[in-house]
Parts: sequence; C-alpha cells; structure tokens
Amino acid sequence: MAEYTIKVRRFQPESGEGPYWEEFGVDLDPSLSVLDGLLQAKDRDDGSLAVRCSCRAAICGSCGMKINGQSGLGCKTQIGEAQELADKQASATGRGGEGNSIVIEPMGNMPVIKDLVTDMESTHWTKIRRVTPWLLPHGEPPEREYIVEPESMIDITQSMACIQCGACVSSCLSMEADPGFIGPAALAKAYRFVGDPRDAETHERLHDLADDPHGIYDCTHCFSCVDACPKGVAPMDQIMRLRRKAGEEGIEDPNSGHDHEIAFVKIIEKKGTLDESLLLQESFAPGVKGKLKPSKRAIREMLGSIPTAIRGIKTGKMRSLSKLIPGVHHKLPDQDDVKAIYAHAEEHSEEFNLYIKGEEGELVDDNVEKGIERSTDPDTAEAK
Ligand code: SF4
Ligand code: SF4
Ligand code: FES
Repeated sequence: MAEYTIKVRRFQPESGEGPYWEEFGVDLDPSLSVLDGLLQAKDRDDGSLAVRCSCRAAICGSCGMKINGQSGLGCKTQIGEAQELADKQASATGRGGEGNSIVIEPMGNMPVIKDLVTDMESTHWTKIRRVTPWLLPHGEPPEREYIVEPESMIDITQSMACIQCGACVSSCLSMEADPGFIGPAALAKAYRFVGDPRDAETHERLHDLADDPHGIYDCTHCFSCVDACPKGVAPMDQIMRLRRKAGEEGIEDPNSGHDHEIAFVKIIEKKGTLDESLLLQESFAPGVKGKLKPSKRAIREMLGSIPTAIRGIKTGKMRSLSKLIPGVHHKLPDQDDVKAIYAHAEEHSEEFNLYIKGEEGELVDDNVEKGIERSTDPDTAEAK
C-alpha cells in the first residue's frame, strides 16, 4: 500500500459556481489504477464526486480523463506510474521532490457535465455519425452472411480495435483550433468502412471526407492521438491511409491538401529542407518543379498569404525577404542520406499497423497462413 494525493478538477453545475480543484488522499497498491483511487475517494470522502466507469478493464471506453495532462483511461493507468509522471513533471518545472499530487481533469475538447463526466454526444458521437459508421454495400444482400477473405480484413483490424473512449478527441490539437474538425476517432471509424471490401461507396466516402474543409486534411500530424489511444488504433495513421486512398483515387480537395503533401515530399527530396515559399507555390500549382507558373488560384492564395509571410519575418521565423521568393531557399549540401530514405521507401512498401509490422507481403501472408495476429498492444497481442 502507498499513499497518494489526487488533485481533481471539479465542477458541480447545481452549485452555480465555476470549476475548482480539490485534493483527496488515497491509500492504494501502486499497481491499482487511477480510477481505483477516484472510486476510493468517492467512497470514503465525497459521494458526489462524479466519474464515469463500467468495466474497469479498458474495454468499455467509459473512463476517459486527463491524468497529469495526458488523455487516457483512468482504469488503464496505474496509480504508481501516474505518481512517477507527476514527480517527473514537477522536477522538469523546478518544483522537484516526490509525492506531488496526481492531477486529474475531465477530457478536453468536450463540454463538462459534472466533475470528470463530459458530454460525449456533442463532440464525439455526433462526429462518429457524421462519417456514416455502417456498411453501404450495393446489390441484394446475400442469403446468409457476407463472405470475405481474411487477408482483406487485416488492414482494418487496427481501426476496429477502437472502444470509443474519446481520449484521442480529448488530446487533438487540431480540434482545439477548429472544433468543427471531424477528428481522430470519427476518421479512424471512417477508415474502418473505407477499407472494408464489402462497402461499395468507398469513392463517395473519400470524396466527402476530402471535400469537407474540416475533414482529412485538417489533421496536422501532431501524433497526440497516437500517444493518447489506449488500444493502439493510432488514429493519425488511419487518417493518413484515408488521404493516401483519396490521392490514389484522384480526388481533389478544396484546400489542396493532397497537392500540399505531394509538394512537401518533392521539396524535401530535392532540397533536404523545407522551402516554405516553394511549398506554397507547388501546393497550388503542382508539378511546376521550381518554375513559377501559377494558376489563378495559386496567385490568389499566394497574395492571401502575404500577411502570414510578414508575420513570419516579424517573428524571426523567416529571416529575409529573399526567402519569400520560391526556390531561393538553400539546399542541404549533402543529400545522400535523404535520397537513401526516398530510395528505400520507393523499393519497400511498409505498413505500420496493430497487426502488421514490416514489409508488405511478408508478415501479412505469413501471419494469415499461420492464423497469427501480431500486435504492439499487450492487451490485444495474441495468436488466434
Ligand atoms: S495527429 Fe491529427 S487527428 Fe491526431 S491529434 Fe494530431 S491533429 Fe488531431
Ligand atoms: S481511437 Fe483510440 S483513443 Fe480514440 S476513441 Fe478509439 S480507442 Fe479511444
Ligand atoms: S471503466 Fe471501462 S474502459 Fe475504463
């Protein structure tokens, strides 16, 4: 047994007062969970402490919360580990010492109903419904179940592992800036159907998600959702898969998101560093490769970005006016390592998936043959 102090952000709407912090002392084995700590405080000190939970085994997705600023599941976070993190954070900010309070807050990017209970309907479930989370097959349904090859389902097993806890939504930086963003959980769910061989509306789904200004190109690759997800779904990876498929289908999006990605890759290949002026030009006039041949839209967009460029100069991000001229940015003197990465990627199609690791074709076939699913998540890693 060890003693811990949990510091909970509380909000009791019936009191008419704003949120406040309250500390509780709890006495638990370090291997027990933060949720166990909260339930002990509720039992011993204050029955009005509101926290949502059910399975206490990282299955139902009810107990999403922020622990020491990180979104996750209360029942999957050991209180001993939470204490170590609290002490580490305190030491990094010069407060030092041991036995710092473990800070527990409701999930972010969602309205708080009471204490740690958030309104999942307004920001999570509404967005899940937005992506039409059911199969859209064409033709007459079969007499019995649909039969699919096991290999054809492997690509979507990772997105199927989602337990709808909302931790990724809570941690998403793009949603903070744009609450309209469809978000990591709903887009991971969208990939579950886009990648399903039984679905007949893949193109329509991809077009819809690319065309929406709050859709797949609104993600900024910050990796927060990957870190937060307790089930290894890696929502950002699913969003990248949606983008790749949309690009392969030749779908143009209003924000030139796909062209922006292609431009990014080409510029790094050519220069080894990012020439942001060239990036802007190439994003709106793709395929020009350093020569200024912009479309009307590109001119409009580049003129519109002048205030941003001026801000860049003022803040020191862009050091000289010459950097505003596409193509003037310097090139890395030795590009060999960068070129080697491109050559490797060209030769090897690599998949990163909960169940697939390594090079395409090898483990997939091998594992399917053996009936083995590989996982990086100890909860789901098993041979079937
Ligand atoms: S990677 Fe994208 S979806 Fe995930 S948290 Fe960051 S911005 Fe949001
Ligand atoms: S993707 Fe992960 S973090 Fe997001 S809702 Fe699903 S299980 Fe939770
Ligand atoms: S209580 Fe079910 S996931 Fe935590």
